[in-house]
Amino acid sequence: MRQTRTKIKTLLENAAIDAQVLVKGWVRTKRGNKQVSFIALNDGSTIKNLQIVADPTHIAEDTIKKINTGACIAVQGKLTESQGSGQAVELQAEKIDILGEADPEKYPLQPKKHSLEFLREISHLRPRSNTFGAIYRMRHAMSYAVHKYFHDKGFFYVHTPIITGSDAEGAGEMFRVTTLDAQNPPLNKQGNVDFGEDFFGKETNLTVSGQLEGELAALALSDIYTFGPTFRAENSNTTRHLAEFWMIEPEMAFYDLQDNMDLAEDFLKYLVGYALKHCADDLEFLNQRAIDEDKNKKQSEQNSMTLLERLHFIIDNEFARITYTEAIDILKNSKPNKKKQFQFLIEAWGADLQSEHERFLVEKHFKKPVILYNYPKEIKAFYMRQNEDDKTVAAMDVLFPGIGEIIGGSQREERLDKLQKRIAEMNIEEEKLWWYLDTRKFGTTPHSGFGLGFERMMLFVTGMTNIRDVIPFPRTPQNAEF
Ligand code: 4AD
Ligand code: MG
Repeated sequence: MRQTRTKIKTLLENAAIDAQVLVKGWVRTKRGNKQVSFIALNDGSTIKNLQIVADPTHIAEDTIKKINTGACIAVQGKLTESQGSGQAVELQAEKIDILGEADPEKYPLQPKKHSLEFLREISHLRPRSNTFGAIYRMRHAMSYAVHKYFHDKGFFYVHTPIITGSDAEGAGEMFRVTTLDAQNPPLNKQGNVDFGEDFFGKETNLTVSGQLEGELAALALSDIYTFGPTFRAENSNTTRHLAEFWMIEPEMAFYDLQDNMDLAEDFLKYLVGYALKHCADDLEFLNQRAIDEDKNKKQSEQNSMTLLERLHFIIDNEFARITYTEAIDILKNSKPNKKKQFQFLIEAWGADLQSEHERFLVEKHFKKPVILYNYPKEIKAFYMRQNEDDKTVAAMDVLFPGIGEIIGGSQREERLDKLQKRIAEMNIEEEKLWWYLDTRKFGTTPHSGFGLGFERMMLFVTGMTNIRDVIPFPRTPQNAEF
């Protein structure tokens, strides 16, 4: 009879001593002597390896010789209680097939400590490391948690387009989508590129946000969310920006800013709680990893809490909620501002907050997550609801320790006249947004939503510090390898 393969996770969870099993996976290490070899095998189903015991009475010496780090093997044998320490069970190999060899002279992922920079250069192999295996598995778990959270609340998942003709955020940081000949594009009478001749008969780009289309759905289905890739051609080479990232954007009819903040806080706490509950093994590894990393840092740069402590801290504490105006007062009078330690000094109301200011508020002043709301309209997008003071809009940003902005959102301007006025003030072409404005003409209602940057959330739950390390294949300026 053909034996079915058991995943290592299943096998370790329901270890049936004396069971005859077949496992397949990649060799992490091999050690031992002429009499016996110990092989650490990993198949990605869990961070834990299975110890394989191979001796020349069952396995040909020639085969054992070919079992090197990185090789892929299939092992049949009997599960026994382990004699050694470090694992409860091990597999006594009776038959080993080498599915794919890995030349030890050439395989880049030898079992020693590699820098994250080096691992980025071998992004095609880094999922075979403990760190990236954990991150891949956690990305999956967190994606599932996002869907579960909203599904359980009666939200509908809406697929918004990736190619659009609009710039939702109005920041002009878009990647063009075109099939025109770059060498020799068709020109119009004015000598400009004639996008009427382009594939869609107009200028199109990769979306920076699914929000505008999400709003259309919310004004029919009440509660919806999107979860998809978004693209920004901003030339920010920071540890928190990607040119391609995933965003979760819930949009809710009948929600005001207060409701929006409540949902954002509850959602973030749910995701963190989900990780603690369902990713315990991977988190334990990442927690220890971060502790070890800290040991190489200056005292002032070390984390005051471990990763696990930070995750519990989020769940156990109410987020602080303050207005932008209050935040400016705090920042103006803060030590780093007075001592000119901020790169961008806060001088007056209206200043856009940089990540150094956000992190000061969270890490030094409040020492917990902060929701900032009611921002100056000048520094926010056209669709945000205008407040009575005529200066601010009902925007909110959620700020997290180590990260800064993790969520950006707002109550939307549902009043047609006010929205049109703002669109005109900001020199946005109203005609392009005719379909968006229609929702304000027909059955408009207060509504709100926000966007969570998935990779920023992944930074927080994994304790990693560079956003390039929490997405399988990062896209950043000058880099689209793999
Ligand atoms: O604040 P942003 O630009 O808001 C929007 O796009 C709104 N349309 C959301 C909404 O109300 N539906 O982006 C939302 C979040 C940020 O808070 C940040 O977490 C993440 O998206 N983000 C990025 N993540 C990685 N790389 C980038 N370049 C990012 N830009 C934004
Ligand atoms: Mg923002």
